[in-house]
Amino acid sequence: MRENTVTIRRPDDWHLHLRDGALLRAVTPSSSFLFGRVMIMPNLVPPVTTVEKARVYRQRVLQAAVKSNPQFQPLMGLYLTDNTTVEEIDRVAMSTEVAAVKLYPAGATTNSASGVTSITKVMPVLERMALKNIPLMVHGEVVDADIDIFDREAVFIDRVLKPLRKRLPELRIVLEHVTTKQGVDFVQEQTDTMAATLTMHHLVINRNALLVGGIKPHNYCLPVAKREEHRLALVQAATGGDPHFFFGSDSAPHLQADKESACGCAGCFTAGHALLYLAEVFYQAEALEKLEGFVSRHGASFYGVSENTDTVSLCRSEEDDNSELSAGDISSEEGMIKAFATPGVSLRWNYIL
Ligand code: NCD
Ligand code: ZN
Repeated sequence: MRENTVTIRRPDDWHLHLRDGALLRAVTPSSSFLFGRVMIMPNLVPPVTTVEKARVYRQRVLQAAVKSNPQFQPLMGLYLTDNTTVEEIDRVAMSTEVAAVKLYPAGATTNSASGVTSITKVMPVLERMALKNIPLMVHGEVVDADIDIFDREAVFIDRVLKPLRKRLPELRIVLEHVTTKQGVDFVQEQTDTMAATLTMHHLVINRNALLVGGIKPHNYCLPVAKREEHRLALVQAATGGDPHFFFGSDSAPHLQADKESACGCAGCFTAGHALLYLAEVFYQAEALEKLEGFVSRHGASFYGVSENTDTVSLCRSEEDDNSELSAGDISSEEGMIKAFATPGVSLRWNYIL
C-alpha cells in the first residue's frame, strides 16, 4: 500500500505572478495561505524596473495577503531592460526585498515589450550581478519569427544560454518553467550555479490538452506545453530528487474574458491547488518522499535562504473528486478568473489544515 498522507516542510513558490490592483487583491490569498517564500514576477504594466518600485509593490502584496500564515514572505524579482544600470544592480545587492533579476526576451510573453533585445546589451549588468552574487531568472525562449513556437526553448538554450554559461559561469541562473527534454538535460549537466523551475501544469499536461477536442484556452501558457516525451522528462526531473530542479508555479492569472478570446492571453492560474496536483504526480511516480525536496528545500538552498520550519500535511482520497476541479476559480472586482483544471487529471489530494 502506498501512503495516502504526506507531511512536508512548508513549500515555497519560486515563480509567481500576482498582478496589481483588483487582480492582486483577488489572487494573493490563493498563494499566501500556503506558501512561505514566493518569488513575485515583475511583468506589470509598467514593469517593476527599480528597487524602489519593487519595494512599494511588495507593500501592496503584503496588504493583499491573508494574515493566517505568518511565514508568507514575498521576494521580489526586478525586470531587466536594455536600460537597466549597474547602479540599480548595486541597489539590488543592498536590498533585502529584491532577491533576483528577471530576463524576458523582448516580445516573448505577457507584458515583455520592455524586455531585453539582445544579451550583449545587458552584459555589463550581468557581469555586475555575477560579481554581487545576484541570481538571474531567465524566460528561456527566442522570439525570432522563423523559429517554430515549439522549438523556442531548445533554440534559446543553444543560442543564448550555452554561450552565457561559458562567458559567465559564476553567474547564478534559473532557467524558468522548463518545458523540454533539452532543457532538463542541459540543466542536469550544469554546476550548482544553474538551476531550473518546473511548473505543476507542465508536469500534468502535454500539448494535446491544448488542441484535442477543441481549443482549450485555460491550458495555454508560455512556454507552451510540448509533446508527451517532454512531459515525461519533466516528471523525471521533478520526482528524481535532483536539487537543480524546484517548484515555481508560474501561476499567471488572467480574466476569463481575456483567456476566452480570439487572441487569448498566455498563463494558467494554478496557485491554490498546484501542490495538490503535484502530490498526485509524485504519488503516481512512487516518489512522494521526494516531494519535500522539490517544493520546500531545493529552491531555498539555491537562493541561500533557510528552509521553512513548520509543515503542511496533505491527504489522498480514493475518490476522484471532480467537484474540486473548479474549486480554484475566483471572482475579482473586474471579473472571473478561472483556475487551471483539466479533465483526465485527478485531483485526489486535499490539505489537512
Ligand atoms: C505569464 C504571464 O501571464 O504573466 N504567462 C505565461 O504564460 N506563463 C508570463 C510568463 O511567465 O511567461
Ligand atoms: Zn511566469
